Amino acid sequence: MSNIRQERVTYVHHWTDRLFTFKTTRDPGFRFINGQFAMIGLQINGKPLMRAYSMASANYEENLEFFSIKVPDGPLTSHLQKIQVGDTVLIGTKPVGTLIQDNLLPGKRLYLLSTGTGLAPFMSIIKDPDVYERYEKVILVHGCREVAELAYADYITRDLPENEFIGDMVRDKLMYYTTVTREDHVHQGRVTDLIKSGKLMEDLGLPPVNASEDRFMLCGSPAMLTDMVKILEDLGLEEGSGSTPGDYVIEKAFVEK
Ligand code: A2P
Repeated sequence: MSNIRQERVTYVHHWTDRLFTFKTTRDPGFRFINGQFAMIGLQINGKPLMRAYSMASANYEENLEFFSIKVPDGPLTSHLQKIQVGDTVLIGTKPVGTLIQDNLLPGKRLYLLSTGTGLAPFMSIIKDPDVYERYEKVILVHGCREVAELAYADYITRDLPENEFIGDMVRDKLMYYTTVTREDHVHQGRVTDLIKSGKLMEDLGLPPVNASEDRFMLCGSPAMLTDMVKILEDLGLEEGSGSTPGDYVIEKAFVEK
């Protein structure tokens, strides 16, 4: 039995010349936990070329959604960025990943810290009613180089709070904080610096990070993860896993594509 299925592209949206989103059909047998990723790809020169992509859609949605970088000479994304509605993409049948609720100990606040396309798994998680049942506040942080790269900002601020099923919970519990490093914006600077200095929590009216109440999920570049893990470890937080839930979990935003 093959571990790759073919799905059809149903939607493509280009945010910038570096970022795009696409949706595909979803086999009813493709089940996942919000926050997980799967292997996605194309048939290139007669062979499947696959890369890891987090689902940006929630597990109750009909279509699958992915948020991708475009690397000009990237083996996969140089082709993938040209896909159009009706084209076929390949999807691995086994979703996996560490950004799942059960890998964290109970807490009061859940911080979802992302840079660039690291936002993708958190788009799935902020649509999950379970996360709002577990936490008093869910704080989604997205750091980008430029304002135009703050993908999904309209969806998060306008559409999601109006959602007929989870809108109430979103309005009550979801906090959304964007920061930009190479342009003017309401908040500026790297996510790491904003957490370390405490400015982010101050801006949101939240208490300083403490290991007994705060939980973190991180998704970004390897450098962002290394720096952020150091900050969290210095604050006394411990990494969680499937076998031993902890205070934070991390996933690489897969950008070498
Ligand atoms: P910067 O502009 O200072 O490089 P990219 O598009 O390269 O993935 O970057 C997305 C965002 O992540 C940018 O705002 C970038 O800031 C930021 N960034 C890059 N490296 C780190 C890091 N080590 N820690 C935190 N943020 C980072």
